[in-house]
Amino acid sequence: MNRRTIIAANWKMNGDLDLVEKMSASLNQVKLGNNVDVVVCPSSPYLTVMANKLIHKNIYLGAQNVSEQASGAFTGEVSTTMLKEFSVKYVIVGHSERRSIYKESSVLVAHKVKTVLNAGLTPILCIGESAAERTAEHTETVLAAQLQPVIDEIGIEKFNEVVIAYEPVWAIGTGKTASPDMAQATHHFIRQFLASNDAKIASKVPLLYGGSVNAKNSEALFAQADIDGGLLGGASLKVDEFTLICSTTKGSL
Ligand code: PGA
Repeated sequence: MNRRTIIAANWKMNGDLDLVEKMSASLNQVKLGNNVDVVVCPSSPYLTVMANKLIHKNIYLGAQNVSEQASGAFTGEVSTTMLKEFSVKYVIVGHSERRSIYKESSVLVAHKVKTVLNAGLTPILCIGESAAERTAEHTETVLAAQLQPVIDEIGIEKFNEVVIAYEPVWAIGTGKTASPDMAQATHHFIRQFLASNDAKIASKVPLLYGGSVNAKNSEALFAQADIDGGLLGGASLKVDEFTLICSTTKGSL
């Protein structure tokens, strides 16, 4: 089963107008492999500017978060309708920093996934275990507990329109990348878990790996059978490195 390869950039609360300018200029020139899409997720204030600058047909704009509400008295929140006005196509949902720092539960994350899908946008649903959970051999239980509320909320058929990013929390921003074998084994578990609900749908869901991906390790990680690209933090802020990763990633076709 050939799936599209996705390289997604999560800038987190980093970057400025200068980076928007330089990254867009660099990415607009990039020659992507067949079947490769790139998604750039700057902070909300930069979405408009970036939308006007990115002109590559396979490079899309993404948001890092969204409200589960449609509109109203929710100070500080941003809705899917607003994101759509600025050409956003993807939304990162349930990043581990949202889960741990902002206490987003898996149930809230599931509501957000539904809201994003209802708006016709594509959620990049993040899941992942902590170091303590891996050491205690609870990884699979934790991932299943993060996925199940989403399956309950939207139904397995809707995973046709979902991208999943597996990001072990211990690998995020630490330089401790999961080895390609370890990442593949976990991705395989995730796909099997989805397949226990619907094998055909499971075979089509893009599964991205995230956690200290860089230009040195991306090729080996993305070459794994169940790894369909990555969600990059630190490396996505470096124009040359991110452009290199995008241009050297081979699609699966
Ligand atoms: P990192 O972040 O690449 O800096 O580890 C990845 C992420 O948090 O999405």
